[in-house]
Amino acid sequence: MTEQHVYPVPEALKQKAAIDADTYQSLYRQSVEQPDAFWAAQAETFLDWQEKWHTVCKSDLRKGEVAWFLGGKLNVSVNCIDRHLEARGDQTAIIWEGDDPSEDQLITYRELHEEVCRLANVLRERGVKKGDRVCLYMPMIPEACYAMLACARIGAVHSVVFGGFSPDALKDRIQNADCQVVITADEGVRGGRKIPLKTNTDKALAECPDVHTCLVVKRTAGDIQWEDSRDVWYRDAVEAASPECEPEWMDSEDPLFILYTSGSTGKPKGVLHTTGGYLLQAAMTHKYVFDQQEGDVYWCTADVGWVTGHSYIVYGPLANGATTLVFEGVPTYPDAARCWEVVDKHGVNSFYTAPTAVRALMGAGDDFVKRTSRKSLRILGSVGEPINPEAWEWYYKVVGDERCPIMDTWWQTETGAHMMTPLPGATDLKPGSCTKPFFGVQPVLLDSEGNEIEGAGEGSLAIKASWPSQLRTVYGDHQRCIDTYYSTYPGYYFTGDGARRDEDGYFWITGRVDDVLNVSGHRMGTAEVESALVLHEQVAEAAVVGYPHDIKGQGIYAYVTPMTGVEPSDELKKELISLCVKEIGAIAKPDIIQWAPGLPKTRSGKIMRRILRKIAANELDSLGDTSTLADPAVVDDLIDNRANR
Ligand code: WTA
Repeated sequence: MTEQHVYPVPEALKQKAAIDADTYQSLYRQSVEQPDAFWAAQAETFLDWQEKWHTVCKSDLRKGEVAWFLGGKLNVSVNCIDRHLEARGDQTAIIWEGDDPSEDQLITYRELHEEVCRLANVLRERGVKKGDRVCLYMPMIPEACYAMLACARIGAVHSVVFGGFSPDALKDRIQNADCQVVITADEGVRGGRKIPLKTNTDKALAECPDVHTCLVVKRTAGDIQWEDSRDVWYRDAVEAASPECEPEWMDSEDPLFILYTSGSTGKPKGVLHTTGGYLLQAAMTHKYVFDQQEGDVYWCTADVGWVTGHSYIVYGPLANGATTLVFEGVPTYPDAARCWEVVDKHGVNSFYTAPTAVRALMGAGDDFVKRTSRKSLRILGSVGEPINPEAWEWYYKVVGDERCPIMDTWWQTETGAHMMTPLPGATDLKPGSCTKPFFGVQPVLLDSEGNEIEGAGEGSLAIKASWPSQLRTVYGDHQRCIDTYYSTYPGYYFTGDGARRDEDGYFWITGRVDDVLNVSGHRMGTAEVESALVLHEQVAEAAVVGYPHDIKGQGIYAYVTPMTGVEPSDELKKELISLCVKEIGAIAKPDIIQWAPGLPKTRSGKIMRRILRKIAANELDSLGDTSTLADPAVVDDLIDNRANR
């Protein structure tokens, strides 16, 4: 092996884990050489089907057409709950850990069944039918999981909107998916602070006349407005409903959820996932990547507003009958020991988080970690952005006491589940590499002509063949789906990421090659932030790029050209920041705003972002050719006035 340090599979895991190195090799080969046979066997093992499929897979990546387990019928909530009742009705399905360390709750599979059935009945009584969209704008409370599963039970399509998004962003998503029911809470609680979810919802719903029902969970009993004809207290409604609910038998290809995610252009896209293939890959990856064993307690710190929360807090773990921990708070509240205290309190065996959290906790110092035991931990995970080797080593040595392998899982909202990842008993680790493809996944590196690069090399990362949890479309706009993912390299799914493969066949993600930022693991389009900035009447133009940030991975750097005659001021900066928060949410706050009298443009008027990225990163030696610019002098001005960091 050629890269720095290699961490071999721990002996203990080699013996015990479900998949060892040889099994990985042979199963991987089978999965790509005989995919139908491979996936049919997995679908039998992992899921309960009401009716068996007649065709395993039909796909044409040129047209962006993908279907798995055609003709099969199943229900996701039955797979995540009902089928476990006999053997583990009294086992804890969900451990809820509140923001306040003194608050927690255990929910058994039997209780989960009752909660989900009751809510499913409430939704049905309110007219929600198979195929209808329901918007969830929830804090991290058990009701968020109940709501997702209740939708799945009756065949409604949920669209979870992250609780950190603004009323405007919520409104756009409700309108785009034409949701008529919204489920929210009075307020959320994070890090000791209240989040006005109901007030935000009220603002959004002022422009969503088709929403006839808003179910409200009472989380804090804080002061809220009430619209009698529309708003219903969640608890009152479920208590009045029956605890039994017949599931809707869904076609394998019926939609399960829509989740909005950012791209290079325009407003966020509603990525649509369907039933059978999605659940299979979520369950299978959860089982193998975290080496899930009977009785294990598993904790993923994501929010259900992101795909990681969908696949690895709710669907994957519950399909496997695991105990999944749902955490309301943040890793640094009340202090930076919180995660490890929760691990000790609940005996967590696998812990899955984002590099930005690892870096923040590393910055707080080892003492917070060392005062806890963490004995129960067996597997660590990382997701959302490349993990820098320094953070990896700290996570491995200080948190995992050099005992717990780190699963660096590369995947996307669009892929639905892990695509490249180590397996604990099979893969030697290299810090910073997501290592090898999961079963059935065929990653390729393409050069600028679209040719596959063989062996070691670097290029655009694409996937060569369909996988079960692949996105099926962009809600309401299949052409946009084709344009975004299937037209750059015809015949391939294009990820938007760049990657390198080393001599050992290990993959290293180098980051996005498109105009998508990854800020603290949150995806954001530069175009979205730019559109917010130019809404200000004193702004003529704006260009947004990412720059390296110690904790967030990437920070948001905005170049703003004021209207002629407008004097730039700190006041204006503040207004611009508020505008981004209003239009998108706090995650879209620019870290740096630089006034730019002009932006570097080609003679045809295209902004040269490459140059703006270099200036933002302080990499002035590698600006590249600026002679093709319409006005090369603007670059000197931007360099002279670049922000201090
Ligand atoms: C990045 C999150 C490097 C990548 C699951 C991808 C990663 C985008 C990793 C998707 C990883 C995610 N190593 N980069 N382990 N995981 N990414 O849709 O750029 O929120 O395209 O899905 O995050 O972000 P999304």
